[in-house]
Amino acid sequence: MSDKVVLAYSGGLDTSVAIKWLKEKYNLDVIALTIDVGNERDFSAVRQKALKVGAVKALVIDGKELFVKYFIFPALQADAVYEGQYPLATALSRPLMAKLLVDVAREEGASAVAHGCTGKGNDQVRFDVSVNALAPDLKIVAPAREWGMTREETINYAHRHGIPIPVTAASPYSIDENLWGKSIECGVLEDPWVEPPEEVFTWTRSPGKAPDEPDYVEIGFEKGIPTTIDGQELDGVTLIQHLNELAGKHGVGRIDHVENRLVGIKSREIYEAPAATVLLQAHQALEAMTLSKSQVRFKQKVAVEYADLIYNGLWFTSLHQDLAAYVQSSQRFVTGTVRLKLFKGSSAIVGRKSPHSLYSLSLATYDKGDQFDQSASVGFIHLWGLPVKTQAQVQGISSSEEEEG
Ligand code: ARG
Repeated sequence: MSDKVVLAYSGGLDTSVAIKWLKEKYNLDVIALTIDVGNERDFSAVRQKALKVGAVKALVIDGKELFVKYFIFPALQADAVYEGQYPLATALSRPLMAKLLVDVAREEGASAVAHGCTGKGNDQVRFDVSVNALAPDLKIVAPAREWGMTREETINYAHRHGIPIPVTAASPYSIDENLWGKSIECGVLEDPWVEPPEEVFTWTRSPGKAPDEPDYVEIGFEKGIPTTIDGQELDGVTLIQHLNELAGKHGVGRIDHVENRLVGIKSREIYEAPAATVLLQAHQALEAMTLSKSQVRFKQKVAVEYADLIYNGLWFTSLHQDLAAYVQSSQRFVTGTVRLKLFKGSSAIVGRKSPHSLYSLSLATYDKGDQFDQSASVGFIHLWGLPVKTQAQVQGISSSEEEEG
């Protein structure tokens, strides 16, 4: 009997070829595992295709709820955005997929898992590091990293073995989609000077073609988790899907980023992330109302670390658990409602309220009812400025011109 391998199967060209290749090269029986993370498609067709190409078994797991609860929402609470631009859709899905690969490998008594990543990207790192953390005894095979075929050779291989070539293989772009966003690479996008052609965008309308009337949307949060839209309670999956539609219609969520990959190269990435854009913006607006200044400042540093850790494949680490505990604790008063205006490619916060708001009208107002004691500022400024004044008196303040001259 052959050993079994559980392959993360997307139904695309590479993973379809991988089914045959794993059998030919390593004599492994392939169990194809397709994980639904909200990349809308016909999963029964994907399953059928895996079997047709030669998988001994094909499974589809709906991972949407797990993805939202354990990956997307914690990342939202952390305000995790890589290099200030990328909301980490692809990166977040990988540790979930690794976990499910390992679970299925255990159930099926497989000795290995496999994925379709090449040797140039971040995704191979995320899969391999996560699988190693969860199941160090399992072997990992990455056919596309090993086989050394060009795209054309892969297509020829598919032809020779009667593997149907998906229409998407004709597209010059490499695309990865899930609930939190769509990642688009390759083709003309590899030239960072070239404006992305309109055809790469399928989730967002061109801002110029967006509706002439704005939409307002109110998002309700409970301890940093979005729970309502316009007062209506929604489960996380539905809430995100709804915002992808609505914000996408207004052309919100297009991102064009030259990004630093973990493997040392810069790559030009296009993303569409309408729901992520709006939710991250709204969440931060609510934190601005409910966290102290020093909490916000400290949390911004944590957010950078958290985003790096997700991007760099370090989900299953103690550092992550420690940071996640801090983030959870920071969210206990992040409850309230944020109102946004979506219009022609922009989303703007136009209102926010919270039962735990630290905003105090009687302290902030310039009108009557002012409770702020302006006379106390005199003493405060005296001490605040004391070291500044002392240093200026002793050492003077040199202008940059003086230094140069
Ligand atoms: N650069 C992004 C990341 O590293 C997106 C990767 C997209 N992956 C893909 N297989 N097309 O997370």
